[in-house]
Amino acid sequence: MSITPEIKETMKASPKIQTPDEVLLSIHDLHVWYELRRFGFGNAGYVKAVDGVSFELRQGETVAVVGESGCGKSSLMKTILGINIPTSGELIFEGKNLAQLKQDELRKYRFDIGYVQQDPYASLPPFMSVQEILEEPLIISGVKDKQERIERIHKAMSKVKLHPVEDFIHKFPHMLSGGQQQRVVIARAMILEPKMIVADEPVSMLDASVRVEILKLLSALQEEYKLTVIYITHDLSTVKYFSARIFVMYAGHLIEKAETRRLLTNPLHPYTHALLAATSDPDAANAETDKDIPPGEPPSLVNPPKGCRFHPRCAKMIQGLCDEKEPIEFEPEPEHFCFMLAISMMKNPRFLTAFGLVLMLLGILLPFLMIVKIIEATYFLSFLSWGVSTLGLAVGTVGFTLWNRNNKR
Ligand SMILES: Nc1ncnc2c1ncn2[C@@H]1O[C@H](COP(=O)(O)OP(=O)(O)OP(=O)(O)O)[C@@H](O)[C@H]1O
Ligand code: SF4
Ligand SMILES: [Mg+2]
Repeated sequence: MSITPEIKETMKASPKIQTPDEVLLSIHDLHVWYELRRFGFGNAGYVKAVDGVSFELRQGETVAVVGESGCGKSSLMKTILGINIPTSGELIFEGKNLAQLKQDELRKYRFDIGYVQQDPYASLPPFMSVQEILEEPLIISGVKDKQERIERIHKAMSKVKLHPVEDFIHKFPHMLSGGQQQRVVIARAMILEPKMIVADEPVSMLDASVRVEILKLLSALQEEYKLTVIYITHDLSTVKYFSARIFVMYAGHLIEKAETRRLLTNPLHPYTHALLAATSDPDAANAETDKDIPPGEPPSLVNPPKGCRFHPRCAKMIQGLCDEKEPIEFEPEPEHFCFMLAISMMKNPRFLTAFGLVLMLLGILLPFLMIVKIIEATYFLSFLSWGVSTLGLAVGTVGFTLWNRNNKR
C-alpha cells in the first residue's frame, strides 16, 4: 500500500492519545434498525444501519468515525444525540443509561451534546437572523435574562471568528458564505457549553479553501474547552485535525479501532487498507498509480452477507470461514475483526512460543495424572503424552528462535 503525502502529513500531525480519567460515553452492543414498510403498512424487513457497535469515550477524547457512504455513521451519531431510539443495546452518558432518563433529564442531556451538521445551509432556519438562531437554544435551556443571552451570543460569535459581530448578527443565512454559515452552526453547537461535540462531515459541503479553516477552528475549540469530539468523515486525510483514535465502520459494524498513527502506518483490516488506498492524493506524479480499491459496492443493510460483511469484496477472503462465520475480536491485537488477522497472529513467534509451552505442560500433566491414579495408565495415554510434549517442544523452540531473531534485528 502506498502512503500518500496527505496521509504522511496526517501521521505527523495527529494528536497523541491522552489518558484522561473519566469515561464520558459508553456504548454497548448498540443496534439501530429502521423498519421497512410495504405499501405503508406491513413489515418488509429492517435496514440494519448500526448492528452491534460498542465503544467507550473518555472526557476530552477525540475520535474519527470513517467509512463509506451508507455504512451507518449518521445513524450511530443520531442515536448518540438522542434523535434515533436504539433498537437494542445501551448508551451510558456520565454513568446514566439514556433509556432510563426522565424527560427533563433527557432535555439536559441534549444540551450537553453539540451537533455540527454536514449541510450548514439546510441546518439553519432561513427566516431567522443569526441572533435569533443563536438565541433559540438559550431560551429553550432557560436563560431568561435578555442581556445575558446577548452577551453569550457575542461571545460565541467571537469564538467562531464571526467578527466584527455587528456585521453578522442581523444577517440571515442566505446572506452568508458557506464557511460563515458553518461558523454559525458551530456557534449554535457551542453556545450551551456542551461536554461533547458530534461533527457529522462538517466540511464535506464546503469549498476546499475554507475546509482547513473550519477544521482548525473546531480543533482550537476542542483544545480550549477540553471537549470530547466525534468527527465523522469519509476522508481520512482530514482526521489529523482532531482524532487521537479512528473507528473504521463497515456495513453497520466497527471493524477496526486504533490510535490514528498506528492505523495509518499499519492498518490491519483489509477494508482499512482499501480506505487508505482510496484517500485522495494531491501529488500529480501519482495520478497514474493503480489504487488498491476493492471491487463492488457496499452490501445491502437489509440482507447483509453472512459471515464477514466485507467478504464479497475482500481479496484475502478465506472460503468456508469468512463467508460462514462472523469474525470475532482476538488478542493480542484486540479491536480488529478479521479472520485473516487471527491466522497471521497464530504465526506470531510469541504466540508459537506460548502455544508450545502449553503443549509441553499438557504432555507433562498426563503422566502425573496417571501416577496419582486420577486417570488410568494406558499405553495410548503414555504415547499421547510423549507426542504432545515433543510437539510442544518443537513448536516452542521454533517460536522462541523466531522471537529471538526478531529481537536482534
Ligand atoms: N430514517 C431512515 N429510515 C430508513 N432507512 C434509513 C433511515 N436513515 C438512514 N437509513 C438507511 O440506513 C443506512 C445508513 O444510513 P446513514 O445515513 O447512517 O449512513 P452514513 O454512513 O451516514 O452515509 P453518508 O456517508 O452517505 O452520510 C442507509 O442504508 C440509509 O438508507
Ligand atoms: S474476515 Fe475474511 S473476508 Fe473479512 S476482511 Fe478478514 S480476510 Fe477479508
Ligand atoms: Mg451521514
